[in-house]
Amino acid sequence: MKERKLGFATIAVHGKKRLDKHETQIPIRALSTPIFQSSTFAFESAEQGAAIFAGEQEGYYYTRLGNPTQTALENEMAFLEGGEAGLATASGMAATATLIISLARSGEKVVASDTLYGGTHQLFVNTFPRLNIEVQEVDASDPQNIERAIDERTRLVFIETPANPTLKLVDIEAVASITRKQGVALVVDNTFCTPYYQNPLELGADYSLHSATKYIGGHGDTVAGIIVGPADGIKQLKKEFLRDLGGVISPFNAWLLLRGLKTLPVRMEKHSENAMEIAQFLSFHPKVSRVWFPWLRTHPQYELAKRQMRGPGGMIAFELKGGREAGRKLMNSVEVCVLAVSLGDVDTLIQHPATMTHCGYTPEELEEVGITEGLVRLSVGLEDVDDLIYDLRQAMKRI
Ligand SMILES: Cc1ncc(COP(=O)(O)O)c(C=O)c1O
Repeated sequence: MKERKLGFATIAVHGKKRLDKHETQIPIRALSTPIFQSSTFAFESAEQGAAIFAGEQEGYYYTRLGNPTQTALENEMAFLEGGEAGLATASGMAATATLIISLARSGEKVVASDTLYGGTHQLFVNTFPRLNIEVQEVDASDPQNIERAIDERTRLVFIETPANPTLKLVDIEAVASITRKQGVALVVDNTFCTPYYQNPLELGADYSLHSATKYIGGHGDTVAGIIVGPADGIKQLKKEFLRDLGGVISPFNAWLLLRGLKTLPVRMEKHSENAMEIAQFLSFHPKVSRVWFPWLRTHPQYELAKRQMRGPGGMIAFELKGGREAGRKLMNSVEVCVLAVSLGDVDTLIQHPATMTHCGYTPEELEEVGITEGLVRLSVGLEDVDDLIYDLRQAMKRI
């Protein structure tokens, strides 16, 4: 607008650059994807706006329905998982809930593995029944149990492998051959492994999802989720279900995950290396009765771990001989490890699943899936491993 001198408030709101259409455009080749911290995007014309809304033309117009920083993350995750398309969400729970609601309707059924992140279990036993979606949880370490549970109402099978917190595994390839035969979708929560160590889609799953809050972000500073799957399914999810349910990721969080992905391989290697040493230390400790870590030969599914995963990751569960009281003392005595939930951070985190992350399980359910009173979960971080072992050793002495 050349004919008028605009007022201070107008320039403050619109910015001089956007109002001056004649400004020279200098190409920007930022190495780091810019954060498009914008809720809305201007149309070039009313016609273009209408065409975008009608789905006749691609274009960003509102961040709940798409944003360039989100797209950069979604494309990169799809590539790393070996899938056609990706969708980033506000949290891992938003990813799980939105995806399942898109696949199953009222009156239909989900078959799920019985050992799951506590929040996922709560969604399955509390919220989905209110929507008239039944979830049957079975011991999926035997794929036959899944086959037996699938009936004509079943739309999808949901598994988490390795499972939180006991590191129980599910044979993805074996389950995928069942779901293919039965014509139902297979969804795998791949949070513990990340695409660096496990690619469910290559093993026959239809969707892989993550709490990106964990290893993908990696620094304990963001909450987010990601789904990767077939292009048509992801498109429908984005255009209908994520649009309506609204659990989108913020551009800033998408950028944090893009940054996290750059160091994912080196972090995963170091998490695994540290965890392997700690798992061995715990295995020989007189106050520990049992250790669950996929790369230990004592893990009941060691062969499957080696076949299905390219590395163990940083999660360990162990059982103390002194039960809950011993666990309480241990957790109150650590000085380098941090008493906190969540996982996949640079810091080593220690917590008690039965009273913390998995308190939504009833006592009977906890017993059934092996989350005992003495079970402690460790998310091994990137500190010097000798310091971590020193810390655990001194804390064990106080039990
Ligand atoms: C395996 C797994 N899946 C999903 C979730 C849920 O993710 P979020 O906390 O990002 O919603 C978690 C959280 O701990 C998890 O451990």
